[in-house]
Amino acid sequence: MSRARTVHRCSSCGGTSPQWAGQCPSCGEWNTLAEEAVRAVGRPVGAAPSTGEPALLVADVPTEERRPVATGVEELDRVLGGGLVPGSVTVIGGAPGMGKSTLLLQAAAAVAASGRTALYASSEESRVQVRARAERLGALTDRLWLHAEASVDDLVGALDSVRPDLVVVDSVQTAFDPETGSAPGSLNQVRAVAQRLVVEARARGCAVVLVGQVTKDGHLAGPKALEHIVDTVLAFEGDKHHALRLLRAVKHRYGATDDLGVLEMTEGGLIGVPDPSGLFLAGRRPGVPGSVVVPTLDGHRPILVEVQALCAEVSYVPPRRSAQGIDSGRLALLLAVLETRVSVSTAKSEVYALTAGGVRLVEPAGDLGIALAVISASNGIALPEDAVAVGEIGLGGEVRPVGRIEHRLAEAARLGFRYAIVPRGTPPVAGLRLIEVGIVLEAAAAVGLITEADARALAA
Ligand code: TYD
Ligand code: MG
Repeated sequence: MSRARTVHRCSSCGGTSPQWAGQCPSCGEWNTLAEEAVRAVGRPVGAAPSTGEPALLVADVPTEERRPVATGVEELDRVLGGGLVPGSVTVIGGAPGMGKSTLLLQAAAAVAASGRTALYASSEESRVQVRARAERLGALTDRLWLHAEASVDDLVGALDSVRPDLVVVDSVQTAFDPETGSAPGSLNQVRAVAQRLVVEARARGCAVVLVGQVTKDGHLAGPKALEHIVDTVLAFEGDKHHALRLLRAVKHRYGATDDLGVLEMTEGGLIGVPDPSGLFLAGRRPGVPGSVVVPTLDGHRPILVEVQALCAEVSYVPPRRSAQGIDSGRLALLLAVLETRVSVSTAKSEVYALTAGGVRLVEPAGDLGIALAVISASNGIALPEDAVAVGEIGLGGEVRPVGRIEHRLAEAARLGFRYAIVPRGTPPVAGLRLIEVGIVLEAAAAVGLITEADARALAA
């Protein structure tokens, strides 16, 4: 008998390579390739089962109602475009401790409270642990069922008896399909579990949500490996030092993927933050040099974020640069532009730049705000407290237009800001005085960080 052919499959992205390598050639993750036998005949692991149906003309395919049904957790429903579609499968990925179990137990309880039936299948935590969490969340509701077995066969049995409208599987990495030989959490297992549940969801018309742990080391196959099997992939993110959590759709078969959910982890579970800009600006101390408010956009949700910079002169070289919530490469670029085009030198200063509240400002539209924060910190002059700044900065110091500026500025106006430093050509916004600038120097002069005379001399 000949030896079975093998490939090496990545546990992170599912890509294959004929030889073993330390780094996956498809996604670049390290130590994620594992040997796997190739089956010569039959259905490969992870392939959709055959239905035996003949080919049809597209126009002859009957239409099907795929309306989302609200879970009752508003921020989750917002990201899903209204709620979960019956018969669909969603995977929610996030780092351990982010609050995935909390969010989904709340969603299951809300579904149950609305008169439908929910089944929470926990293979990661014991019944007692889940009950304790449910008590804490005030989620001891009728029609909320708990199943605590890891085998998918047992879970399918529970689906038969409970007949839920929503099933939460927490987590896809600790559940397993007994027919698949590999260990729980391996790529084969995770895909087999998801595959089984896709078939069950479709057949029963119940919505399934799979919880997927995202780990850096790649020992567990993550949500990425399921992207092609499921209908929706959500990412639940946050900074472990802050209570703020952001929920986004990475893939969504039933709608747009650009809405953002904002939640806060509290003693009593996750609560929606309807006004994130207000939250981010809550602790702001106006009149302090180095602080600039930037109207940023996350997906299509506008959020106002405070950027803070601090410059401290030191005698050692090279001085330290630290960026939090801001790309460090972008900060270095902006410092070089300021040095060359605005004569603001930070060559002998430590520079710290961060965003308040742990929110990330990684779009180039934040450039002007960061640059003004550094100039303000460096010369000790505060910006007017009712101004916002937005614009991308080029290497020549020019301020470039940014996308969807009306949305950003409308949010600034809503929160009571009165001035906006913006790129030239920005259309007017009600309630806001626009100060249009072509170069960073002009922007700095417009908010009083440098004198008009200095600006003219430097520009010459
Ligand atoms: P958890 O939902 O277990 O996270 P995950 O499933 O993503 O690993 O929750 C993680 C943290 O949230 C945990 O450290 C405790 C905290 N927490 C609260 O602050 N308030 C609460 O009401 C609950 C249930 C948890
Ligand atoms: Mg959990």
